[in-house]
Amino acid sequence: MISVVLLGAGNVATHLYRAFSKSETIVINQWYNRTLTSISSYANNVSITNDLSQLKEADIYILAVSDDSIEKLSQDLPFTNRLVAHTSGSVSMHDLDKKNQIAVFYPLQTFSKDADIDFTDIPICIEVYEKQNLQLLKDLAKAVGCESHKITTEQRRTLHLAAVFVNNFTNQLYRIGHEICESKSINFNLLKPLITETAKKVQTITPYMAQTGPAKRNDKKTIKKQLKLIENEEHEAIYKLLTSSIKKTHGQR
Ligand SMILES: NC(=O)c1ccc[n+]([C@@H]2O[C@H](COP(=O)([O-])OP(=O)(O)OC[C@H]3O[C@@H](n4cnc5c(N)ncnc54)[C@H](OP(=O)(O)O)[C@@H]3O)[C@@H](O)[C@H]2O)c1
Repeated sequence: MISVVLLGAGNVATHLYRAFSKSETIVINQWYNRTLTSISSYANNVSITNDLSQLKEADIYILAVSDDSIEKLSQDLPFTNRLVAHTSGSVSMHDLDKKNQIAVFYPLQTFSKDADIDFTDIPICIEVYEKQNLQLLKDLAKAVGCESHKITTEQRRTLHLAAVFVNNFTNQLYRIGHEICESKSINFNLLKPLITETAKKVQTITPYMAQTGPAKRNDKKTIKKQLKLIENEEHEAIYKLLTSSIKKTHGQR
């Protein structure tokens, strides 16, 4: 059995709580958040607290809190020489206070509290400072059905940067598509099969091979007509920038 104290109650912590609860080899000793309201509905299932001085003992303390609060929260922990891990893609492991043993348990996935997610197969990127803790982190990942990958800080930061492009930026483009549809009272749902297929295609062929569209074909007339249709300056700038990037990638001028 791996005992865990979970700190934080946002998107990641909530999904970790659900995944840990389902596992037969993990026991959640406690759930901490600075404000109790977001976890009070779980009080019948798990011990909850907003008082760091009341934290129970556990094999691992997982800090799933905002990037900027990881360092301070790790300093505020009222114990030493226990295993403390954060879940961030970009915060250094060394931002964790070294009075405890330190590690990173970064799930490479996008989590929203209210969107269901299948935890199995999420790559968990692991970093440890004290080698003896590697197995415990691997076991923790395995216990929720995930594959773990031991990576360096540099690799984690690189992955997180790539993740911002493939997830956050792509999602912002969905948002723009949504806005464009709404402005002409067109149902965004019509684009959903296209969105699904775009994500599906890169599972089997490279993003380079998967590219289609006017920029890749260098259909200048179509590009000109589309630019005329755009009513928003920011959308126009993004269209031009991405069109130029695609053309460059595919050797068009
Ligand atoms: N969301 C993702 O897709 C994702 C994916 C992988 C990794 N991560 C990483 O996971 C971590 C948590 O992300 P999230 O999306 O779950 O964040 P989130 O939903 O914004 O939740 C943030 C949590 O941090 C707590 N918090 C904020 N400031 C604090 C402070 N000064 N002191 C103590 N607690 C504080 C919040 O407490 P209150 O409830 O009291 O506000 C809340 O529990 C981050 O390091 C993030 O980089 C996120």
